[in-house]
Amino acid sequence: MRILFYDACDYDEDSFNEAKKQFPSIEIEYIEADLNPITASLARGYDAVCAFVNSEVDALAVEILAGLDVKLILMRSTGYDKVNVGAAAEMGETILRVPGYSPEAVAEHAMGLALAADRHIVKGYNRVRENDYALEGLLGTTLNGKVAGIVGTGQIGAAMCRIVSGFGMRVLAYDVRENPALDFVTYVSMDELLSQSDLISLHCPLFEANYHLINAETINKMKPGVIFVNTARGGLVDTAALIEGIRSQKIGACGLDVYEEEGPNVFKNRSSAVFESVVSTLCAFPNTVVTSHQAFFTKEALAAIAKTTLQNALAFAEDARESIPPQNVVCWKGECAR
Ligand code: NAI
Repeated sequence: MRILFYDACDYDEDSFNEAKKQFPSIEIEYIEADLNPITASLARGYDAVCAFVNSEVDALAVEILAGLDVKLILMRSTGYDKVNVGAAAEMGETILRVPGYSPEAVAEHAMGLALAADRHIVKGYNRVRENDYALEGLLGTTLNGKVAGIVGTGQIGAAMCRIVSGFGMRVLAYDVRENPALDFVTYVSMDELLSQSDLISLHCPLFEANYHLINAETINKMKPGVIFVNTARGGLVDTAALIEGIRSQKIGACGLDVYEEEGPNVFKNRSSAVFESVVSTLCAFPNTVVTSHQAFFTKEALAAIAKTTLQNALAFAEDARESIPPQNVVCWKGECAR
């Protein structure tokens, strides 16, 4: 099994080389270029490609891979919304992913963002560095006794429910499927969640059906001063409406690890680039904290991603679908899991 590993960073190589010691039959070639319709042709001669969340695995890229007899697309991520699954299925491709490699890592970052935005931690730190010890503009909210609304209670959402519950918050949730393990959570309609929550955190995948789930209308239903957090996907939120919500003070604090338009920025140093970006607008707000898709980024998560990705690759090489958890399979030899 020869894998072409796209968009490789030093930390990827470190974690995959460490995990590879347990998989002697797998060879990996790392390249800096990300997978897209132009770079797909580099995969000639490989059995599989390994891609990440923002890789452009559109219909053309899939067609090129299939034409090169690259039958396996290994997503080293949970989300796969940039992959044209329909096109891949038509071409008989297999897409495997890594769900739940460290749900706590993402949930802990979500809570960190909520606290950083609401308690003005970054601003406070910058003030102290400037020898400014004034408290004006740093007022926050006590979360204990308040209501948290968690949208999506899969692995990450469930971890977030446990965290907010630990903070002494009452936990409401909305999901298309209830999680029976969360007996301390009250499932409500999306409208109820929006109108009752003091903290709203998104943890559902992005599909066509929930694109811009958070928009002017849903923001209007939120409690004034709500703390809003998105570590799920940028496309779940209409950024223009979010900016208006922050400007009008409907949203009292905002923590984002993902945002629309993040594609060209993610994991790149673009500090010398001159560009109009939604990030600069968001960062101009004193109550908004933005990080760039780093919620997953812990030592434990990287090790788990590498191990599961290589287990997925081996299962494909051995034609042993039954040896990998069903939730890892997006599509197996053209047959979609959903
Ligand atoms: P999961 O598959 O375990 O859970 C997703 C949950 O969302 C499921 O319970 C599902 O029923 C629910 N859901 C689906 N559609 C929904 C809708 N329209 N409204 C409400 N709930 C809905 O996924 P997991 O592992 O919890 O990940 C959630 C999302 O977090 C991923 O899809 C990904 O977009 C994002 N993520 C972000 C990372 C980051 O570094 N910022 C890292 C990993 C994942």
